[in-house]
Amino acid sequence: MTTILEKTRSLFADLGVSTDREIQELFRQLIELADTEHKKVITDPEREEFRVRWLGRNDSIRARVKRNWLENAPKEMRRWVGSSFNYFSEHIETGYSYIKFAAEILEADRPEDLSLPGVLRPVGSHHLIRQVFQEIEDIFFSIGFSVVEGPEIETPYYNFEALNIPEFHPVRDDMDTFYLELPKGAPTPLLLRTHTSPMQIRTMEKQKPPVRVIVPGKVYRRDNPDATHSFAFHQIEGLAVDTDITFCDFTGTIEYFVQQFFGPTVKTRFRPSYFPFTEPSVEFDVSCPFCGGTGASNGGTCSKCKGAAWIELFGAGMVDPAVYGFVNYDAKKVSGFAFGIGIDRMAMLKYGIDDIQVFFQNDVRFLRQFP
Ligand code: PHE
Repeated sequence: MTTILEKTRSLFADLGVSTDREIQELFRQLIELADTEHKKVITDPEREEFRVRWLGRNDSIRARVKRNWLENAPKEMRRWVGSSFNYFSEHIETGYSYIKFAAEILEADRPEDLSLPGVLRPVGSHHLIRQVFQEIEDIFFSIGFSVVEGPEIETPYYNFEALNIPEFHPVRDDMDTFYLELPKGAPTPLLLRTHTSPMQIRTMEKQKPPVRVIVPGKVYRRDNPDATHSFAFHQIEGLAVDTDITFCDFTGTIEYFVQQFFGPTVKTRFRPSYFPFTEPSVEFDVSCPFCGGTGASNGGTCSKCKGAAWIELFGAGMVDPAVYGFVNYDAKKVSGFAFGIGIDRMAMLKYGIDDIQVFFQNDVRFLRQFP
């Protein structure tokens, strides 16, 4: 018996086929064969083989059927052969498009190859300044301070006047700064804050005593850049106000902080200083952590403290009663202390950095040393 496949190689006349029914039967058998094969297709090469065998341009089954059965059919049979042929052709194309679609879905779903080595992306780290902020914040958290932050653009009232620095006061020269260009008629001039101290005022305006806050942030001054100056740098302000805070609480707190930061063996001392918003005002020093406070190193003078045995740290003092007047605190009932720690300076001291500019240059060779 000749198979249906072999029959596609012959013309109807040779097969003895002439009626509509007989022709439909031939196409039915062919479709049945295609369906059987279609169901067996699994792999990519099998799918391609199916396409070439059934739908290919030249020698496929469809091409043969078209040539032998359709184009060579007697004229009066062409119409129904044509419609059977179209049905057959579409049936196979649809079947093929299904397996192709299924393959595409499988491809998209294919799980990653977990045995491949991963892509190594460089991991960043906190900038040293940010790390030192964190160290200092943690020390003050541990003794009950909380963090507040404030605007870098300030009014002269908060940056100066309310801190007991009236216009034309000589200390304004030290801290002269960048003023913003504002439209004519602006209600107040604006400037980049020269210290974090304005937040003393803003905090006390909002909050009744007791107050125990630290204020980390950026500050700006019209300084020319050199190894120890930058027009932008960082401070942590501290403020503690209550009904019973003494000078002893003040120095004890600072000593605790300095020893936590530099190590338990360092000593602190303070010298008289001047700030309009503290009275008395002091400068805190730490015994040089590099030479153990001796001023000597390797038989010569210590290069860090230049033989002085002490290193100047930061300014501080007891809050000047005049300041309480600006925030409606009763200067007869409350007392407190404030300090302003320069973060860049603390980072340079602790990590042996001799140029403040490296903090702002973003050179990864520097940054990578503090992962
Ligand atoms: N604001 C002062 C400065 O930037 C530092 C300071 C803060 C001094 C608080 C005393 C009290 O120089």
